[in-house]
Amino acid sequence: MDFSEKHGPWAVIAGASEGTGREFARQIAAQGVNCLLIARRKGPLLALADEIRAETGSECRTAAIDLARSDAAEALIAACGSLDIGLFVANAGSDPFGQKLLDRPLSGWKDLIQRNVVTLFDCCYHFAGTMKARGKGGMILVNSGACWGGATYMAVYSASKAFDLNLGEALWAELRPFGVDVLNLVMGETDTPELRRFLAAKDLPLPETAADAGAVARLGLEQLPNGPTCNWGLGPDEAPFGASSANARRDRVVMIEQVSKRFYEKG
Ligand SMILES: NC(=O)c1ccc[n+]([C@@H]2O[C@H](COP(=O)([O-])OP(=O)(O)OC[C@H]3O[C@@H](n4cnc5c(N)ncnc54)[C@H](OP(=O)(O)O)[C@@H]3O)[C@@H](O)[C@H]2O)c1
Repeated sequence: MDFSEKHGPWAVIAGASEGTGREFARQIAAQGVNCLLIARRKGPLLALADEIRAETGSECRTAAIDLARSDAAEALIAACGSLDIGLFVANAGSDPFGQKLLDRPLSGWKDLIQRNVVTLFDCCYHFAGTMKARGKGGMILVNSGACWGGATYMAVYSASKAFDLNLGEALWAELRPFGVDVLNLVMGETDTPELRRFLAAKDLPLPETAADAGAVARLGLEQLPNGPTCNWGLGPDEAPFGASSANARRDRVVMIEQVSKRFYEKG
């Protein structure tokens, strides 16, 4: 199956208005898959949809949804309507604060958890069901090196990304017998408008090593069949922060799958 056969006719990109999400949308559409673009700001979404239609000839729809709302997943699923979704990219997810836990009110952190954990989980649950039923599809959960362990100034962000990582690995194991690919795309510093705003607010320069958002999206699409995890800038045997290499994590997921079968699939 080529890309559009497996991941078309429609893809949903959550967090598509700029940066990596925008690059995902342009590259997915260039491969003949129609796109439903989600973000909060309507203007940039509409402009990108026009650009994509003109550049690629693929169809493009938009829905302005705040993914931190408690009914966001419901709204996203409603926006899909009867579209046949073959690819879900969960891209929205940065931490614009960079503050210690007690330096922000609880409600501010809960918005981040709602977007990165609850909405992402609800969407994954939904698309896992529809993709399993159609026997093909894919999900890319855009992650961060913060997923590899708890970190000061990133307590809620790193915890939310660890949740996403483990969810993505488990989904990879459970869905691959049904032709559905799942990939955790673990990014490092990447040149996006959000990173630039964050650095500017702290009077810091953009690091020279910041990755190009187009190259990161390209890697995610290329590596989608090779889940569950891929680290930007590192080979599959290289381990960031001494956690675990992508290959080692895959082996661990497969080993646990085998052990679990002994317990859960008895009788
Ligand atoms: N950039 C980096 O250096 C870096 C490093 C590691 C990991 N990552 C990961 O890469 C992904 C993309 O990061 P990014 O730097 O592009 O920043 P981002 O803040 O995740 O922005 C990406 C897109 O998400 C949308 N978005 C953000 N919050 C939203 C919300 N509540 N509801 C709906 N849409 C929302 C934004 O559009 P609107 O503002 O229009 O809503 C934008 O289109 C994230 O998952 C992040 O954790 C980034």
